Amino acid sequence: MEKINLLVLSDDLDLRIEIKNLVSDEAFAISGYSDFTPDGKTKIVNKFPEVVLCAVKGEVPESVFTFVQDLLVVARETTVILVNDNISVDLVNKAAQYGIRKVLPIYGIESAEFSENIRTVYTLEQQRVLDNNESKKVRCKALGFFGGKGGTGKTTLAIGVAASLAKSGKRVMLLDLDLQFGDVAMALDLDTKNSIVDLVQDRGGITIENINAFAVEHSSGMSVLCAPKSSEFADFVTPNHVEKIIDIMRPYYEYIIVDFPSAFNDVTITACENCEELYLIYNNEILSLNNAKICYTILDQLHQREKIRFVLNKVEKSLVKQKDFEEMFAQGIFISIPADYPTALLSINKGQAATVAQPKSSLAKGITEMADKIIETHTGITPIKEKPTKKRGFKKK
Ligand SMILES: Nc1ncnc2c1ncn2[C@@H]1O[C@H](COP(=O)(O)OP(=O)(O)O)[C@@H](O)[C@H]1O
Ligand SMILES: [Mg+2]
Repeated sequence: MEKINLLVLSDDLDLRIEIKNLVSDEAFAISGYSDFTPDGKTKIVNKFPEVVLCAVKGEVPESVFTFVQDLLVVARETTVILVNDNISVDLVNKAAQYGIRKVLPIYGIESAEFSENIRTVYTLEQQRVLDNNESKKVRCKALGFFGGKGGTGKTTLAIGVAASLAKSGKRVMLLDLDLQFGDVAMALDLDTKNSIVDLVQDRGGITIENINAFAVEHSSGMSVLCAPKSSEFADFVTPNHVEKIIDIMRPYYEYIIVDFPSAFNDVTITACENCEELYLIYNNEILSLNNAKICYTILDQLHQREKIRFVLNKVEKSLVKQKDFEEMFAQGIFISIPADYPTALLSINKGQAATVAQPKSSLAKGITEMADKIIETHTGITPIKEKPTKKRGFKKK
């Protein structure tokens, strides 16, 4: 029998051991332990456990429920089971409301029965996931490139990172969700008349065949679903369309890179909810920082805060220091990308991602580093760098 990957979530070290002793070794592989801190949440997300056993003694605090709720936003395939020593009908009902699939007792239960319960819940959950047409085999990540201000570099970084991920052998879909002013097609010099609007209006509906028909293949190997050429068509795309498109793409791609407009509306909020990570692209100046703060607050209210990764783009010596930024958000910056105007311009003029237009430039290096870091956080593996070819030449006399 295949072992189920299990993680124990508890602040109480003794309780962790009690739970470990309760689960039978044949059925489960304990992939780790975690606590109810933001770091603990990140650890869980990166470990992809199939089951999280959330163990609490006594009354379950409200914070545990909200922790689970936020966790399930980013780890949707995980089955959460609550383990408690004081089970009541109220507790079971409340747990269900927060997405917890089962409440099990700590005491008075045999290891075999405890393990059987977990396996049953997990199997039922698996069936539900399969019924939802989500493949467990492909762990697709939808990554949003977001920010409340235009011109910060969302599109530049989205196309650069997407092309870089494709170059690393990943199956990538780049989705231009800037429905009014989307410029991915232009930035990549793509020869296509088709867009997301043609897809949602097609009588065949949103199917993978139709997505393939309306998306365009880019020389990097990635697929691109473009925004409409004219902004008057933007309203044809609804939040339901966006959710369905991302859902249907998932089994076929390892990464869906979503280029966002600088706006919160029904479509973008739904897209945020359907992304696992949101890269907030900001520049190193005070107006941009203020904008980052507003976005952060809104995404927090929408229960999306855990997904935020700050990316500081166009970095030069400036007024806003990285330390100030980190103090403001109690969260580090995922990566800083240097300002490199000649490469940015060349990239636009050539209709190529910066990584292709000028691979040795500081902008290309920053983007490649970002793509590598993304792969590393998901897989724990740093992509192998191509060795620089040795220059052959004559020795100077
Ligand atoms: N790191 C960078 N250094 C210099 N210029 C950049 C950098 N990143 C983006 N740009 C330039 O900034 C402008 C806006 O970028 P864009 O990606 O279109 O922003 P957004 O999609 O956020 O509106 C473009 O002219 C682009 O070439
Ligand atoms: Mg843009």
